[in-house]
Amino acid sequence: MFQQLVPLQEDAILGLMSKFRADPSPDKVDLGVGVFRDLSGNTPVLAAVRRAERSLLDAQTTKTYVAPAGRAEFNEAVGELVLGGSHPALVANRARIVQAPGGCGALRLGAELIKTARPQAIVHLSDPTWGNHAPLLGNCGLALASYPYYDMKAHRLRFAQMQDTLERAAPGDVVLLHACCHNPTGADLDAGQWHELADLLQRRRLLPFLDLAYQGFGEGLEADVAGLRHLTSVLPEALVAVSFSKNLGVYRERLGALIFIGEKSTEADTLRTHVLQIARGIYSMPPDHAAAIAAHIFAEPDLRTSWITELEAMRRRIAEMRSLLALALKERTGGSEFDFLAQQHGMFSQLGCSPEAVARLRERHHIYMLGDSRMNLAGLMPDKVPYVADSIASVLRG
Ligand SMILES: Cc1ncc(COP(=O)(O)O)c(C=O)c1O
Repeated sequence: MFQQLVPLQEDAILGLMSKFRADPSPDKVDLGVGVFRDLSGNTPVLAAVRRAERSLLDAQTTKTYVAPAGRAEFNEAVGELVLGGSHPALVANRARIVQAPGGCGALRLGAELIKTARPQAIVHLSDPTWGNHAPLLGNCGLALASYPYYDMKAHRLRFAQMQDTLERAAPGDVVLLHACCHNPTGADLDAGQWHELADLLQRRRLLPFLDLAYQGFGEGLEADVAGLRHLTSVLPEALVAVSFSKNLGVYRERLGALIFIGEKSTEADTLRTHVLQIARGIYSMPPDHAAAIAAHIFAEPDLRTSWITELEAMRRRIAEMRSLLALALKERTGGSEFDFLAQQHGMFSQLGCSPEAVARLRERHHIYMLGDSRMNLAGLMPDKVPYVADSIASVLRG
């Protein structure tokens, strides 16, 4: 059976992680791996999560199955957190929410649902996008295409080109959008662009599939979903894949949700039967641990306030690193080329340099980032900013 298989190349991020670990230099800086780090370099268990987890462990009397849709109170809270209580789809009972194993699980569930409903649909991904989108959406057999999104050299969105390309997409196609904190570019649509995009999708009868992995990391819990809420309010149908890995810091516990909105309440019910059958055929039931923790945090005012305070601190730490690095690079280059770092959102931005320059930063200066020059700003520490800025300036000088 297996003898003809040849080994695959190591995943780029995992490869980078092992290179970083093996690097003995005291100067080394890890801007590669996409996890939040606090000022001590840790990816902490949030205090709210720890408190909720303790009371959960004390109160838990069974480990029996919950349900293929996961925990009902968690799903309900996700609807309010993401869509907002007065969202027209919630008011009209046209939205359904199913817990999933992480944002990845939710993306795959959504892809399988599209494949069931319309196997010939093409899923349009932003160029560039997160490396896992293509396998998560394409491995179930859907065809993929890409739309221009960002000019890495000019550090700006290619919104007009994005519109041109999507104008030519076939009705019934799917457009995958990053709801906020675009990975890898950090460049998000503004309010006007979300409105224009909503008009285009409606006119061209395209289905939006929103990936929400960083709610609260950009401008705040509410501001980060303003575009998503507009789009899902005006369009008849939509999918949203939600991840709580980053904003609750529960990465390994695998917590996410798929929100699906149908044109009518009965259609939403039908979709739910399909989503649950798909889930049964892949993993049967999502893990409950983090869902129980999250449901407890969302429901208890004290814990919720504590979580929002911690989330805000994470958001501010990233914004501060962005400002410090942009300023340090301005001082060293004498120009405004790197101002974009302070204006973009979330953990990631692309420096905009060549793979060779990325390799020089790693080999000469022990600074690790992805080959497309994606940096995780949440991996940077304030005391390393001058060193990183000096190194970038020196490598870019040649
Ligand atoms: C853009 C994007 N979408 C989705 C995810 C899903 O993450 P998870 O499956 O760990 O919740 C991530 C995580 O890195 C991401 O960056």
